[in-house]
Amino acid sequence: MPGNIFSKKSKINELLKDERFLYPEFVPERLPFRDAEIDNLVFALQPVLKGKKPQNVFVCGKSGTGKTATVKFVLNELQQYSDRAKGLYINCFQLNTRHSILTQIANFLGEPTPRRGIATDEAYSKVVEALKHANFFPIVVLDEADQLLHDKEASKLFYDLLRVVEYGQGRFGMIFISNISDFVSLLDDRVKSSLAEQTIAFEPYSPQQLKEILKQRAQYAFHSTALDKDVINVAAAHAAKLGGDARIAIECLLRAGRDAEKKNAEKVTTEDLKGVFSEVDSRALQKALAYLSETESKILSLIPANKDIASGDLFEVYEKAVEKPLSQRRFRSLVSVLERMNLVKTEEALKKPRGRTRMVSLAFPKSQLNLKKKK
Ligand SMILES: Nc1ncnc2c1ncn2[C@@H]1O[C@H](COP(=O)(O)OP(=O)(O)OP(=O)(O)O)[C@@H](O)[C@H]1O
Ligand SMILES: [Mg+2]
Repeated sequence: MPGNIFSKKSKINELLKDERFLYPEFVPERLPFRDAEIDNLVFALQPVLKGKKPQNVFVCGKSGTGKTATVKFVLNELQQYSDRAKGLYINCFQLNTRHSILTQIANFLGEPTPRRGIATDEAYSKVVEALKHANFFPIVVLDEADQLLHDKEASKLFYDLLRVVEYGQGRFGMIFISNISDFVSLLDDRVKSSLAEQTIAFEPYSPQQLKEILKQRAQYAFHSTALDKDVINVAAAHAAKLGGDARIAIECLLRAGRDAEKKNAEKVTTEDLKGVFSEVDSRALQKALAYLSETESKILSLIPANKDIASGDLFEVYEKAVEKPLSQRRFRSLVSVLERMNLVKTEEALKKPRGRTRMVSLAFPKSQLNLKKKK
Protein backbone atom coordinates (compact mmCIF):
# COMPACT_ATOMS: atom_id res chain seq x y z
CA MET A 1 0.00 0.00 0.00
CA PRO A 2 1.36 3.46 -0.90
CA GLY A 3 2.24 5.64 2.09
CA ASN A 4 0.27 8.72 2.91
CA ILE A 5 1.40 11.58 0.68
CA PHE A 6 2.19 13.71 3.71
CA SER A 7 4.54 11.12 5.16
CA LYS A 8 7.05 12.15 2.49
CA LYS A 9 7.27 15.49 4.20
CA SER A 10 9.27 14.06 7.07
CA LYS A 11 12.10 13.25 4.69
CA ILE A 12 12.43 16.83 3.51
CA ASN A 13 15.72 18.57 4.24
CA GLU A 14 14.74 21.65 6.13
CA LEU A 15 16.91 24.57 5.09
CA LEU A 16 14.78 27.48 6.21
CA LYS A 17 14.50 27.69 9.97
CA ASP A 18 12.00 30.54 9.89
CA GLU A 19 11.39 32.25 6.57
CA ARG A 20 9.44 35.10 8.14
CA PHE A 21 12.75 36.83 8.82
CA LEU A 22 13.08 37.27 5.07
CA TYR A 23 9.62 38.73 4.46
CA PRO A 24 9.70 42.25 3.03
CA GLU A 25 7.47 43.65 5.80
CA PHE A 26 9.55 42.17 8.62
CA VAL A 27 11.12 44.95 10.69
CA PRO A 28 14.51 43.77 11.98
CA GLU A 29 15.59 44.68 15.48
CA ARG A 30 18.91 45.90 14.20
CA LEU A 31 19.49 47.91 11.07
CA PRO A 32 23.19 47.96 10.32
CA PHE A 33 24.56 50.99 8.46
CA ARG A 34 21.59 53.14 9.37
CA ASP A 35 22.85 54.50 12.69
CA ALA A 36 23.17 58.06 11.43
CA GLU A 37 19.69 58.03 9.87
CA ILE A 38 18.21 56.54 13.05
CA ASP A 39 19.95 59.21 15.17
CA ASN A 40 18.57 61.95 12.95
CA LEU A 41 15.05 60.59 13.26
CA VAL A 42 15.38 60.28 17.01
CA PHE A 43 16.61 63.85 17.19
CA ALA A 44 13.68 65.11 15.14
CA LEU A 45 11.09 63.19 17.18
CA GLN A 46 12.44 63.43 20.72
CA PRO A 47 10.77 66.77 21.61
CA VAL A 48 7.56 64.69 21.72
CA LEU A 49 8.79 63.11 24.95
CA LYS A 50 8.59 66.51 26.58
CA GLY A 51 5.28 67.31 24.97
CA LYS A 52 6.98 69.69 22.55
CA LYS A 53 6.77 70.10 18.83
CA PRO A 54 8.77 67.51 16.84
CA GLN A 55 10.36 68.35 13.52
CA ASN A 56 8.42 67.14 10.52
CA VAL A 57 10.66 64.94 8.46
CA PHE A 58 11.05 64.06 4.82
CA VAL A 59 12.83 60.75 4.24
CA CYS A 60 14.13 60.06 0.74
CA GLY A 61 16.28 57.49 -1.02
CA LYS A 62 16.14 54.84 -3.70
CA SER A 63 14.17 51.62 -3.47
CA GLY A 64 15.36 49.07 -0.91
CA THR A 65 17.59 51.45 1.04
CA GLY A 66 15.74 50.77 4.29
CA LYS A 67 13.54 53.87 4.54
CA THR A 68 10.34 52.08 5.54
CA ALA A 69 12.10 49.62 7.85
CA THR A 70 14.03 52.40 9.60
CA VAL A 71 11.03 54.67 10.14
CA LYS A 72 8.92 51.77 11.45
CA PHE A 73 11.74 50.70 13.72
CA VAL A 74 12.16 54.19 15.20
CA LEU A 75 8.41 54.60 15.69
CA ASN A 76 8.19 51.24 17.45
CA GLU A 77 11.00 52.25 19.77
CA LEU A 78 9.40 55.60 20.48
CA GLN A 79 6.06 53.99 21.30
CA GLN A 80 7.72 51.48 23.56
CA TYR A 81 9.64 54.16 25.35
CA SER A 82 6.74 56.49 25.93
CA ASP A 83 3.01 55.96 25.93
CA ARG A 84 2.58 59.61 25.05
CA ALA A 85 3.47 58.99 21.43
CA LYS A 86 1.53 56.93 18.94
CA GLY A 87 2.36 56.41 15.29
CA LEU A 88 0.05 55.86 12.34
CA TYR A 89 1.66 54.31 9.28
CA ILE A 90 -0.06 54.89 5.94
CA ASN A 91 1.15 53.53 2.63
CA CYS A 92 -0.12 55.96 -0.01
CA PHE A 93 0.05 53.30 -2.65
CA GLN A 94 -2.76 51.54 -0.82
CA LEU A 95 -4.55 54.59 0.52
CA ASN A 96 -4.21 57.31 -2.05
CA THR A 97 -7.11 59.72 -1.81
CA ARG A 98 -7.37 62.79 0.34
CA HIS A 99 -10.66 61.50 1.67
CA SER A 100 -9.46 58.05 2.69
CA ILE A 101 -6.33 59.39 4.37
CA LEU A 102 -8.18 62.05 6.35
CA THR A 103 -10.74 59.45 7.44
CA GLN A 104 -7.97 57.13 8.54
CA ILE A 105 -6.30 59.89 10.56
CA ALA A 106 -9.59 60.88 12.22
CA ASN A 107 -10.21 57.27 13.25
CA PHE A 108 -6.68 56.94 14.53
CA LEU A 109 -7.19 60.04 16.67
CA GLY A 110 -10.21 58.39 18.22
CA GLU A 111 -13.02 60.03 16.27
CA PRO A 112 -15.11 57.22 14.71
CA THR A 113 -15.46 58.34 11.11
CA PRO A 114 -17.03 56.23 8.37
CA ARG A 115 -15.19 56.16 5.05
CA ARG A 116 -18.43 56.46 3.09
CA GLY A 117 -21.24 58.92 3.27
CA ILE A 118 -19.34 61.95 4.53
CA ALA A 119 -17.78 64.81 2.61
CA THR A 120 -14.04 65.36 2.56
CA ASP A 121 -14.37 68.68 4.40
CA GLU A 122 -16.28 66.87 7.08
CA ALA A 123 -13.51 64.30 7.40
CA TYR A 124 -11.07 67.17 7.79
CA SER A 125 -13.20 68.74 10.53
CA LYS A 126 -13.29 65.40 12.31
CA VAL A 127 -9.48 65.33 12.33
CA VAL A 128 -9.32 68.81 13.83
CA GLU A 129 -12.02 67.99 16.37
CA ALA A 130 -10.30 64.74 17.34
CA LEU A 131 -6.95 66.48 17.72
CA LYS A 132 -8.49 68.66 20.44
CA HIS A 133 -9.28 65.61 22.53
CA ALA A 134 -6.50 63.20 21.66
CA ASN A 135 -4.75 62.09 24.83
CA PHE A 136 -1.60 61.04 23.01
CA PHE A 137 0.87 62.64 20.66
CA PRO A 138 0.13 61.50 17.08
CA ILE A 139 2.87 60.98 14.52
CA VAL A 140 1.57 60.24 11.05
CA VAL A 141 3.81 58.56 8.49
CA LEU A 142 2.90 58.87 4.83
CA ASP A 143 5.01 56.33 2.98
CA GLU A 144 5.26 56.48 -0.84
CA ALA A 145 3.96 60.04 -0.46
CA ASP A 146 4.77 60.93 -4.07
CA GLN A 147 1.70 58.90 -5.02
CA LEU A 148 -0.35 61.85 -3.83
CA LEU A 149 1.18 64.17 -6.40
CA HIS A 150 -0.37 62.26 -9.29
CA ASP A 151 -3.69 64.00 -8.98
CA LYS A 152 -4.81 67.44 -8.01
CA GLU A 153 -7.39 66.43 -5.44
CA ALA A 154 -4.96 64.12 -3.62
CA SER A 155 -2.27 66.78 -3.52
CA LYS A 156 -4.66 69.07 -1.64
CA LEU A 157 -4.04 66.76 1.29
CA PHE A 158 -0.73 68.55 1.87
CA TYR A 159 -2.65 71.76 2.56
CA ASP A 160 -5.03 69.93 4.86
CA LEU A 161 -2.09 68.54 6.79
CA LEU A 162 -0.44 71.93 6.86
CA ARG A 163 -3.57 73.34 8.48
CA VAL A 164 -3.76 70.41 10.89
CA VAL A 165 -0.13 70.96 11.91
CA GLU A 166 -0.78 74.68 12.41
CA TYR A 167 -4.01 74.03 14.21
CA GLY A 168 -2.43 71.39 16.43
CA GLN A 169 0.17 73.94 17.49
CA GLY A 170 2.92 71.41 17.44
CA ARG A 171 0.90 68.51 18.77
CA PHE A 172 0.96 66.63 15.50
CA GLY A 173 4.06 65.19 13.85
CA MET A 174 4.49 64.15 10.22
CA ILE A 175 6.99 61.94 8.42
CA PHE A 176 6.92 61.72 4.63
CA ILE A 177 8.76 58.98 2.78
CA SER A 178 9.44 58.94 -0.94
CA ASN A 179 11.94 57.43 -3.32
CA ILE A 180 11.89 60.55 -5.43
CA SER A 181 14.42 63.00 -4.07
CA ASP A 182 12.77 65.82 -6.04
CA PHE A 183 9.61 65.23 -4.08
CA VAL A 184 10.12 68.20 -1.77
CA SER A 185 10.92 70.56 -4.61
CA LEU A 186 7.56 69.64 -6.14
CA LEU A 187 5.75 70.97 -3.07
CA ASP A 188 4.94 74.61 -2.64
CA ASP A 189 7.10 76.71 -0.32
CA ARG A 190 4.71 76.90 2.59
CA VAL A 191 4.07 73.18 2.58
CA LYS A 192 7.79 72.56 2.26
CA SER A 193 8.91 74.72 5.16
CA SER A 194 6.27 73.39 7.50
CA LEU A 195 5.99 69.73 6.54
CA ALA A 196 9.52 68.94 5.52
CA GLU A 197 11.59 70.79 8.09
CA GLN A 198 14.27 68.11 8.01
CA THR A 199 15.37 65.92 5.14
CA ILE A 200 17.02 62.58 5.82
CA ALA A 201 18.55 61.01 2.73
CA PHE A 202 19.22 57.26 2.51
CA GLU A 203 22.11 56.29 0.23
CA PRO A 204 22.10 52.94 -1.63
CA TYR A 205 23.99 50.13 0.11
CA SER A 206 27.43 49.12 -1.14
CA PRO A 207 28.07 45.45 -2.04
CA GLN A 208 29.94 45.04 1.26
CA GLN A 209 27.06 46.48 3.26
CA LEU A 210 24.53 44.30 1.46
CA LYS A 211 26.65 41.29 2.31
CA GLU A 212 26.60 42.15 5.99
CA ILE A 213 22.84 42.82 5.98
CA LEU A 214 22.15 39.52 4.21
CA LYS A 215 24.39 37.61 6.58
CA GLN A 216 22.46 38.86 9.57
CA ARG A 217 19.05 38.18 8.09
CA ALA A 218 20.14 34.74 6.89
CA GLN A 219 21.33 33.79 10.38
CA TYR A 220 17.78 34.01 11.67
CA ALA A 221 16.07 32.59 8.61
CA PHE A 222 18.26 29.60 7.63
CA HIS A 223 19.79 26.69 9.50
CA SER A 224 23.48 27.27 10.02
CA THR A 225 24.73 24.93 7.28
CA ALA A 226 21.99 25.63 4.75
CA LEU A 227 23.79 28.12 2.55
CA ASP A 228 26.54 27.10 0.20
CA LYS A 229 29.64 29.24 0.28
CA ASP A 230 29.29 32.32 -1.95
CA VAL A 231 25.48 32.39 -1.89
CA ILE A 232 25.48 35.57 0.20
CA ASN A 233 28.21 37.16 -1.92
CA VAL A 234 26.43 36.47 -5.18
CA ALA A 235 23.08 37.76 -3.91
CA ALA A 236 24.75 40.91 -2.55
CA ALA A 237 26.63 41.53 -5.79
CA HIS A 238 23.47 41.12 -7.82
CA ALA A 239 21.50 43.60 -5.71
CA ALA A 240 24.41 46.03 -5.75
CA LYS A 241 24.42 45.94 -9.53
CA LEU A 242 20.74 46.84 -9.52
CA GLY A 243 21.33 49.95 -7.41
CA GLY A 244 21.99 48.70 -3.85
CA ASP A 245 18.47 47.44 -3.18
CA ALA A 246 18.36 45.27 -0.02
CA ARG A 247 14.82 44.11 -0.79
CA ILE A 248 15.95 42.42 -4.00
CA ALA A 249 18.84 40.72 -2.21
CA ILE A 250 16.60 39.39 0.58
CA GLU A 251 13.85 38.25 -1.75
CA CYS A 252 16.34 36.36 -3.94
CA LEU A 253 17.60 34.56 -0.87
CA LEU A 254 14.10 33.57 0.23
CA ARG A 255 13.06 32.24 -3.16
CA ALA A 256 16.30 30.38 -3.70
CA GLY A 257 15.85 28.82 -0.27
CA ARG A 258 12.33 27.67 -1.09
CA ASP A 259 13.42 26.26 -4.45
CA ALA A 260 16.25 24.31 -2.86
CA GLU A 261 13.88 22.90 -0.23
CA LYS A 262 11.42 21.89 -2.91
CA LYS A 263 14.17 19.91 -4.62
CA ASN A 264 15.01 18.43 -1.24
CA ALA A 265 18.59 19.65 -1.65
CA GLU A 266 21.05 19.72 1.22
CA LYS A 267 22.12 23.26 0.58
CA VAL A 268 21.06 26.39 -1.23
CA THR A 269 23.51 26.90 -4.10
CA THR A 270 24.43 29.85 -6.26
CA GLU A 271 22.67 28.01 -9.09
CA ASP A 272 19.39 28.18 -7.12
CA LEU A 273 20.04 31.85 -6.64
CA LYS A 274 20.74 32.56 -10.30
CA GLY A 275 17.56 30.70 -11.14
CA VAL A 276 15.44 33.26 -9.28
CA PHE A 277 17.19 36.47 -10.36
CA SER A 278 15.15 37.17 -13.45
CA GLU A 279 11.81 36.65 -11.74
CA VAL A 280 12.71 38.80 -8.73
CA ASP A 281 14.18 41.54 -10.91
CA SER A 282 11.15 41.56 -13.12
CA ARG A 283 8.87 41.89 -10.11
CA ALA A 284 10.94 44.77 -8.76
CA LEU A 285 10.69 46.41 -12.16
CA GLN A 286 6.93 45.86 -12.34
CA LYS A 287 6.60 47.47 -8.91
CA ALA A 288 8.58 50.50 -10.05
CA LEU A 289 6.48 50.77 -13.23
CA ALA A 290 3.23 50.52 -11.32
CA TYR A 291 4.25 53.56 -9.28
CA LEU A 292 4.70 55.85 -12.26
CA SER A 293 2.36 58.64 -13.20
CA GLU A 294 0.66 58.55 -16.57
CA THR A 295 3.10 61.10 -17.99
CA GLU A 296 6.14 59.16 -16.80
CA SER A 297 4.75 55.94 -18.31
CA LYS A 298 4.04 57.78 -21.54
CA ILE A 299 7.62 59.03 -21.75
CA LEU A 300 8.98 55.51 -21.21
CA SER A 301 6.71 54.10 -23.89
CA LEU A 302 8.07 56.58 -26.44
CA ILE A 303 11.70 55.53 -25.99
CA PRO A 304 12.62 53.04 -28.73
CA ALA A 305 13.55 49.44 -27.84
CA ASN A 306 17.28 48.65 -27.85
CA LYS A 307 18.19 52.10 -29.09
CA ASP A 308 18.86 55.51 -27.63
CA ILE A 309 17.21 58.75 -28.61
CA ALA A 310 18.30 62.36 -28.19
CA SER A 311 16.45 64.03 -25.34
CA GLY A 312 15.27 66.85 -27.66
CA ASP A 313 13.91 64.36 -30.18
CA LEU A 314 12.15 62.46 -27.44
CA PHE A 315 10.51 65.68 -26.34
CA GLU A 316 9.27 66.32 -29.89
CA VAL A 317 7.81 62.82 -30.16
CA TYR A 318 6.17 63.32 -26.79
CA GLU A 319 4.71 66.70 -27.76
CA LYS A 320 3.06 65.10 -30.78
CA ALA A 321 1.77 62.13 -28.80
CA VAL A 322 -0.15 63.97 -26.09
CA GLU A 323 -2.87 66.59 -26.03
CA LYS A 324 -1.42 68.83 -23.34
CA PRO A 325 2.37 68.52 -23.28
CA LEU A 326 4.45 69.69 -20.31
CA SER A 327 7.09 72.38 -20.62
CA GLN A 328 10.48 71.18 -21.81
CA ARG A 329 11.95 71.99 -18.42
CA ARG A 330 9.44 69.84 -16.56
CA PHE A 331 9.89 67.12 -19.16
CA ARG A 332 13.64 67.09 -18.53
CA SER A 333 13.13 66.86 -14.79
CA LEU A 334 10.84 63.85 -15.28
CA VAL A 335 13.53 62.16 -17.36
CA SER A 336 15.90 62.74 -14.43
CA VAL A 337 13.40 61.16 -12.06
CA LEU A 338 13.18 58.12 -14.34
CA GLU A 339 16.95 57.95 -14.40
CA ARG A 340 17.20 58.00 -10.63
CA MET A 341 14.70 55.17 -10.49
CA ASN A 342 17.06 53.19 -12.75
CA LEU A 343 14.39 53.01 -15.45
CA VAL A 344 16.29 54.98 -18.07
CA LYS A 345 19.95 55.57 -18.74
CA THR A 346 21.26 58.82 -20.09
CA GLU A 347 24.55 59.68 -21.60
CA GLU A 348 26.03 62.96 -22.73
CA ALA A 349 26.93 62.98 -26.40
CA LEU A 350 28.50 65.57 -28.63
CA LYS A 351 26.10 66.89 -31.18
CA LYS A 352 26.94 68.59 -34.41
CA PRO A 353 26.96 71.40 -35.23
CA ARG A 354 26.90 72.71 -31.70
CA GLY A 355 27.13 71.58 -28.13
CA ARG A 356 26.06 68.50 -26.33
CA THR A 357 22.93 66.50 -26.07
CA ARG A 358 21.59 63.96 -23.67
CA MET A 359 20.95 60.53 -25.18
CA VAL A 360 18.19 58.60 -23.42
CA SER A 361 17.64 54.84 -23.50
CA LEU A 362 15.55 52.32 -21.58
CA ALA A 363 17.36 50.52 -18.76
CA PHE A 364 15.29 47.35 -19.19
CA PRO A 365 13.84 45.28 -22.07
CA LYS A 366 10.91 47.15 -23.58
CA SER A 367 8.77 44.01 -23.55
CA GLN A 368 8.56 44.40 -19.75
CA LEU A 369 6.73 47.67 -20.25
CA ASN A 370 3.81 46.01 -21.94
CA LEU A 371 3.27 43.74 -18.96
CA LYS A 372 2.31 46.78 -16.96
CA LYS A 373 -1.32 46.58 -15.93
CA LYS A 374 -3.58 49.51 -16.59
CA LYS A 375 -4.28 51.35 -13.36
N1 LIG B 1 20.13 48.04 7.28
C1 LIG B 1 19.30 47.00 7.08
N2 LIG B 1 19.42 45.88 7.83
C2 LIG B 1 18.61 44.83 7.66
N3 LIG B 1 17.62 44.79 6.75
C3 LIG B 1 17.44 45.88 5.97
C4 LIG B 1 18.26 47.04 6.12
N4 LIG B 1 17.86 47.95 5.21
C5 LIG B 1 16.84 47.40 4.56
N5 LIG B 1 16.58 46.17 5.00
C6 LIG B 1 15.56 45.26 4.51
O1 LIG B 1 15.46 45.41 3.10
C7 LIG B 1 14.11 45.41 2.67
C8 LIG B 1 13.79 46.71 2.00
O2 LIG B 1 13.85 47.78 2.94
P1 LIG B 1 12.71 48.91 2.99
O3 LIG B 1 11.40 48.30 2.69
O4 LIG B 1 12.86 49.63 4.25
O5 LIG B 1 13.19 49.79 1.74
P2 LIG B 1 12.62 51.20 1.24
O6 LIG B 1 13.76 52.15 1.25
O7 LIG B 1 11.40 51.56 2.03
O8 LIG B 1 12.26 50.87 -0.27
P3 LIG B 1 11.05 51.43 -1.20
O9 LIG B 1 11.43 52.82 -1.62
O10 LIG B 1 11.03 50.51 -2.36
O11 LIG B 1 9.80 51.37 -0.38
C9 LIG B 1 13.27 45.13 3.90
O12 LIG B 1 13.06 43.75 4.00
C10 LIG B 1 14.17 45.61 5.04
O13 LIG B 1 13.90 44.91 6.23
MG1 LIG C 1 9.43 51.66 1.53
